[in-house]
Order: sequence, then C-alpha cells, then structure tokens
Amino acid sequence: MNKVTKLFGIDYPIIQGGMVWVSGAKLAAAVSKSGGLGIIGAGSMAPELLSRHITKAQTLTSKPIGVNIPLLYEKAQEQVDTALSLGIKIFFTSAGSPKKFTNYLKGHGATVVHVVSTPEQAIACENAGVDAVVAEGFEAGGHNGRDEITTMSLIPQVRKCIKIPLIAAGGISSGQSIAAALSLGADAVQMGTRFLMTRESSAHQNFKQLLLRSTSTSTMTYMKATVPVRLFRNKFSSEISQIEESFHGEALKTQLHEHLGKYRARLGMLEGDLDNGELEVGQTISMIKNIPSVEELFVELLHDYKEAYNLLPRSL
Ligand SMILES: Cc1cc2nc3c(=O)[nH]c(=O)nc-3n(C[C@H](O)[C@H](O)[C@H](O)COP(=O)(O)O)c2cc1C
Repeated sequence: MNKVTKLFGIDYPIIQGGMVWVSGAKLAAAVSKSGGLGIIGAGSMAPELLSRHITKAQTLTSKPIGVNIPLLYEKAQEQVDTALSLGIKIFFTSAGSPKKFTNYLKGHGATVVHVVSTPEQAIACENAGVDAVVAEGFEAGGHNGRDEITTMSLIPQVRKCIKIPLIAAGGISSGQSIAAALSLGADAVQMGTRFLMTRESSAHQNFKQLLLRSTSTSTMTYMKATVPVRLFRNKFSSEISQIEESFHGEALKTQLHEHLGKYRARLGMLEGDLDNGELEVGQTISMIKNIPSVEELFVELLHDYKEAYNLLPRSL
C-alpha cells in the first residue's frame, strides 16, 4: 500500500483520467473493478446525464469511483452537487483554481485532487488544502499547460516542493512508463490516452481504429492563444493552424472560438467524424497498437511493470 492507494482505498496506484466524451460509467467501473481508480468525466455531461452515469457505475461496482469536474464549464457547481448527492466521495478538479471548490467539497467529507501543470500551481493546491495533486506533462492528451513542461521535467520538480501525494500524468501508457514515473518521485499515475484505447471507453470505433495507425508525429498542441489542447492532426486541426497563421491578438481568439464552436469534440470523439471533429489524444498514442478490455490492460500493465523493474541494473 502506498499513500495514494490508501487515500482512495484501491489496489494499484493506477488512475484512469476523466475524459470528456470518453470516460462514462462503463469505463470508470471497469477500471475500479480491476483495482485502479475509475473516474467519470463530467465535463461533457449535463447534470442529469452525470447522474445517470454515476448511478450506472454504482450498479456495476461497489469499488470507489471518482468524478472529474473541469472548472472552466458553467455547470461545475451543479455537477459537484449532483455527484455529492449520489454519494461520490472522490473529486478530481481541473482547469481552474484549486480554491474554487476545495473547502466546499472537504466540508462534505470528500477527497479532493487537483490537476496542475507547473510546480507553482502544485504549491497553490497544497496551500488550498487539496489531498493530492495530479501533475500533468505537456505530452498529455486534451488540454495542456501553457508552459509546455514535460512529465520528465515536471514530476521531480513538483516532488521537491509539495508533501501531499503526487500523481504523475502525461505520456504514461505502459508498465515501463509507470516504473519511470514512480522512479521520478510520483506515488501513482493517471493515464488518459491508454484508457481511451480500451473496449470499454466510449470513444467512437472510427476514432479508435484511426489511432491504431498513429505515428510519433500524429499529435500537436493547438489553440495556444485560447485554451491549449493536444489533438490528433486532421482536417479540423489544419484549419485551426491556418487560422493561427492568419490572425493575431483578439481577432485570433475570436476566430478560434468561432471555428471551434460548441460540439467539435463530441463530433470527433463520440460520433466519429474524423475530418471535422476535434480529436483529443496524447503523444503516447504512437506506442499503442491494441484495444484490449480494461481487465486485459491491467494484466499487461502489471506484467510490463514487473519486467521493467527487473531489467533495471542494480548499479550504474
Ligand atoms: C480525450 C481526452 C479527454 C480528456 N478530457 C479531460 C477532462 O475532461 N478533464 C481533465 O481534467 N482532463 C482531461 N483529459 C486529460 C486526462 O484526464 C489525463 O490527465 C491525460 O490524458 C493524461 O495524459 P495521457 O493522455 O498522455 O495519458 C483528457 C484527455 C483525453 C485524451
């Protein structure tokens, strides 16, 4: 048992990151059943839908389940209250200030984890009273930190400046990379892209099949002028690049907002429109060449972790 497995009451220090359009009840319950921590991604759910996913997950497993609340959406308060009313005790908040809900959630007896991309933000989390921090490097799928700090550089820096448990994220998708993250000082890992590529994720089949053909240059970070996000390169991302080359300042922000619109991520990731949709995925996708069940994935991760650990030379 380590600090993180104890904090959540789980078997392995492996957390499935909350993912818009991808991590509903089925994925979260499968991860928790396998001994990790499954998280429902509330960002793409109206409170009624979130309520249905939480209730379904609770019928699928009695193990702990968390909810991820990105703070940049208007419905965050309603999502928090919905999850609390259904007995959720683990909250991962992101994309906003850790001060926003930490006291409120802790007042309701919940465990609070906040996602950061710099050591300074991690210190702010500790000061705000969160129970643990996810430090997410620039390799990660989805929204990225502005400062472009990679996991390899970020984790040891964060480890040095906080005492609370540290969960590493960004570019971790194998037993080998779990071993690397733990050796850098993390207590646990959070993986998104790897869990997107499982049978239980709700990512569209077209999207999963496209991702099997990824190469090392398939992803890029876009929209740095508004909210930086790592995407699979497609027609939509080329259009975004063209806008980024043609406009500056406020005009660029306006054009990006207009072109993104409201439902690009749903169109790409849930509905499978590979040209016009926004396809969020991390750099590590080029290493992923199968779509296992979550149970099979855990067997693979644990096996590869052990192998990586045993292969390390005892001295240099
Ligand atoms: C499709 C997708 C959607 C994501 N949505 C969210 C989200 O709603 N909230 C959040 O905090 N992080 C989100 N993330 C980030 C993940 O929770 C996780 O931290 C990240 O994927 C880790 O990096 P990796 O993709 O290299 O494993 C998303 C990632 C992906 C790939």
